[in-house]
Amino acid sequence: MSFLLLILLALVVATSEETEAEALLKWKSSLYQPGSLASWAIRNGTSPCSWYGISCDQAGNVVQISLQSSSINGTLNSLNFSSFHNLISLNLSDNILQGSIPSGISNLSKLNSLDLGTNSFGNFVPP
Ligand SMILES: *[C@@H]1O[C@H](CO)[C@@H](O)[C@H](O)[C@H]1NC(C)=O
Ligand SMILES: *[C@@H]1O[C@H](CO)[C@@H](O)[C@H](O)[C@H]1NC(C)=O
Ligand SMILES: *[C@@H]1O[C@H](CO)[C@@H](O)[C@H](O)[C@H]1NC(C)=O
Ligand SMILES: *[C@@H]1O[C@H](CO)[C@@H](O)[C@H](O)[C@H]1NC(C)=O
Ligand SMILES: *[C@@H]1O[C@H](CO)[C@@H](O)[C@H](O)[C@H]1NC(C)=O
Repeated sequence: MSFLLLILLALVVATSEETEAEALLKWKSSLYQPGSLASWAIRNGTSPCSWYGISCDQAGNVVQISLQSSSINGTLNSLNFSSFHNLISLNLSDNILQGSIPSGISNLSKLNSLDLGTNSFGNFVPP
């Protein structure tokens, strides 16, 4: 009985917390030209670790997103930074990103390398 409860609880937790794969796919679906992200697909496994530009640690958490020069056309508005608790490095330089840098980017507490150069962002980084 308590075992069943545990499973139920695990399901509730799993569905309320957006996974890294879900967050990446949601962002991909907001982009105009996600052609370079063809490998970003659930049919390719629910773990994003083998997807183009994504690197994980041994536990399967996304630690690095390297999408420089990938013809990514769109905004960062739909990228939920709160889902990436272990992200250390984010490189989105030399793409076609517009709009503003979402304030949620400051929630990437482990981030030590951020490169958003050569895009078309408007007003720059919130603290
Ligand atoms: C963003 O991700 C966090 C953590 O996974 C989640 O709690 C939150 O509901 C997500 N926000 C949106 C707008 O999807
Ligand atoms: C799955 O991912 C691998 C590695 O990124 C990629 O080479 C392959 O094309 C992907 N397969 C599909 C069906 O997207
Ligand atoms: C980016 O996408 C928009 C909307 O489809 C399009 O108008 C624009 O030409 C694209 N930019 C580039 C550099 O491809
Ligand atoms: C940043 O994280 C805090 C605490 O988890 C959350 O309350 C807040 O909504 C997040 N900010 C953004 C812009 O996502
Ligand atoms: C991001 O990628 C570009 C292009 O490969 C590279 O020149 C730059 O040094 C990278 N930025 C960081 C912070 O590693």
